[in-house]
Amino acid sequence: MTVLVRKPAELRQACDDARALGHRVGLVPTMGALHEGHFSLIEEAKARAGFIVATIFVNPLQFAAGEDLERYPRMLESDLDGCQARGVDLVFAPERDAMYPPGFQTSVVVSRLSRPLEGEFRPTHFEGVTTVVAKLFNLVGPSVAVFGRKDYQQWKVLSTMVRDLHMPVEVVGCPIVRETDGLALSSRNRYLSIAERERALAIVAALREAHDAWERGERRGERLRALATERVERDVDRIDYVAAIDPESLLPAPESPTPSRLLIAVAAHLGGTRLIDNVVLGEDPRP
Ligand code: PAF
Repeated sequence: MTVLVRKPAELRQACDDARALGHRVGLVPTMGALHEGHFSLIEEAKARAGFIVATIFVNPLQFAAGEDLERYPRMLESDLDGCQARGVDLVFAPERDAMYPPGFQTSVVVSRLSRPLEGEFRPTHFEGVTTVVAKLFNLVGPSVAVFGRKDYQQWKVLSTMVRDLHMPVEVVGCPIVRETDGLALSSRNRYLSIAERERALAIVAALREAHDAWERGERRGERLRALATERVERDVDRIDYVAAIDPESLLPAPESPTPSRLLIAVAAHLGGTRLIDNVVLGEDPRP
């Protein structure tokens, strides 16, 4: 039976109770509109902890003016059914004021790693993410927290926050879940028209071209980036970035010594929808 909790104090109490019964607490933070990608995070948390908390909160702090905060899909009833079916113990779905009451003024910033890629196009985004996730960590006290690697930079930024602030939580990043044709699952895919969804496949096609070139022995970041860019720009309306960078520092990888891994990350627009996707060459299977 999944319990729905709205108030931070109730969430903290429930997690304290679970720990008193000897459970490790596992946390899956989400913004709702749950899909198979989220459910894979829940399965991973269940393998690592005995009491599973999923949070559903469309966090206003991580949206800039003009982004999709208002239209972001909200479907608490069906999300609860999904959590119930997957054996989530508790769903925390707070109102905005419960998380950010009047007078709220504290934030958590991971400075360097938040700046490239998403940070260049959404300069306030990661401050919103790290602040809300730090708050959730403080309320839940999880032993483990699970995130998707589709938001690759978010996973790295949050891992850095935990390391730098000595937060006693293990951060786990799970593989991207894709549709059978390769499109990475995202709550934002539901914004796409049929024609836009077809064109969105250019993103995974670009990642595949880079992956194939890497398999053939190409190691030059610039060449891999150019190949991916040529493919993606044929079908999308606008590219924010196509990057071929070091997967840890998120900086350009030196050509010598030859990199053993390279992150190819893409952010592109189709109509009014912005999608991101990535692959780590030298590590991930062909997407
Ligand atoms: O990845 C998300 O859905 C959000 O950024 C997160 C981690 C739940 C914070 O609001």
